[in-house]
Amino acid sequence: MYNSKISGLGYFVPDNVVTNDDLSKLMDTNDEWIQERTGIKERRHVVKGEDTTSSMGLKAAKIAIERAGIDKDEIDFIVFATLSPDYYFPGPGVMIQRDLGIKTVGAIDIRNQCSGFVYAISLADQYIKTGMYKNVLVIGSELHSGGLDMTTRGRGVSVIFGDGAGAAVLTREEDNSKGILSTHLHSEGAHAEELSLIAPGMGKRWVLDILKDDDPNDESYFPYMNGQFVFKNAVVRFSEVIIEGLKTNNLKAADIDMLIPHQANLRISQFIQGKFKLRDDQVYNNIMKYGNTTAASIPIALTEAWEQGKVKEGDLVVLAAFGSGFTWGSAIIRW
Ligand code: UT7
Repeated sequence: MYNSKISGLGYFVPDNVVTNDDLSKLMDTNDEWIQERTGIKERRHVVKGEDTTSSMGLKAAKIAIERAGIDKDEIDFIVFATLSPDYYFPGPGVMIQRDLGIKTVGAIDIRNQCSGFVYAISLADQYIKTGMYKNVLVIGSELHSGGLDMTTRGRGVSVIFGDGAGAAVLTREEDNSKGILSTHLHSEGAHAEELSLIAPGMGKRWVLDILKDDDPNDESYFPYMNGQFVFKNAVVRFSEVIIEGLKTNNLKAADIDMLIPHQANLRISQFIQGKFKLRDDQVYNNIMKYGNTTAASIPIALTEAWEQGKVKEGDLVVLAAFGSGFTWGSAIIRW
């Protein structure tokens, strides 16, 4: 059995900065409320037509591949995590294969929302562990801005989410004491609708019904979140899955050099930091700049932390996520 290590990281965010004040011109909200409740100061939104989920993922991927020091033709498999694919089908994984111009390697799409990147690297890690693949490209990318309700009706959700992409190349590591030590994945579908986007789907209401109704006030096309319920579950599940990862590897919270939590809400990250008694320099947060970019949030944060020299060889890095599904997970990495 091999381990896998993260050999290259990259991210891309659109240039277009949208501040809280910008949003307050569209809906009844204000900078004070958003900062106090979420920590978010601004986020990025694509300019329509300039980028898509797959094109942002491609830009992040190219940087990660270059930093991994491999040729794109050495990629054996692609894993793409997103909740906002360019098309209903096919998923964006195949678009990356096409747009990178690489041979016909397999490409899979992960539908695990905020936990998508942790699920994606867990999957990639298993392929590498068994020796099936040597280099797996993992991408998390989201284009939220094109699907948010930018009126007061949607303010509880729309002020939170932002656009962006992050990518990692996972490469075979022969030394079993290094790289991804373990990953831990969970779900609780009983709460599937508490953070969801119902349409277009083939559930109780089909696409044809929606088209027939042609109702401009139809809210099923917009994301819904039971914010307080999600918050309460998030703090519990984040904690549990970090403890599970540490225990599996006979480690303690004090061993963590860098915790990269999914950027859901600064208050959630601060709660986790307090619970594990971590210093400010042991937790990386960038939700202030980018909002919540769901599957892209961890790879963007991890790339930034690495670029700033905050993730170094030998460090114990913990990734943790919770979100829609509910799904949650963690990855314990010896850098
Ligand atoms: O990434 C996946 C996981 N996601 C999360 O973990 C997110 C978890 N939840 C949260 O982060 C928080 O619940 C929110 C930030 C979404 C909301 O914060 P909250 O403190 O739970 O606020 P709330 O939903 O209870 O709303 C409080 C008040 C309401 O007004 P009333 O009923 O008290 O008069 C809302 O209508 O704030 C109002 N409100 C807003 N006011 C100004 C909701 N959204 C806004 C807004 N601007 N954008």
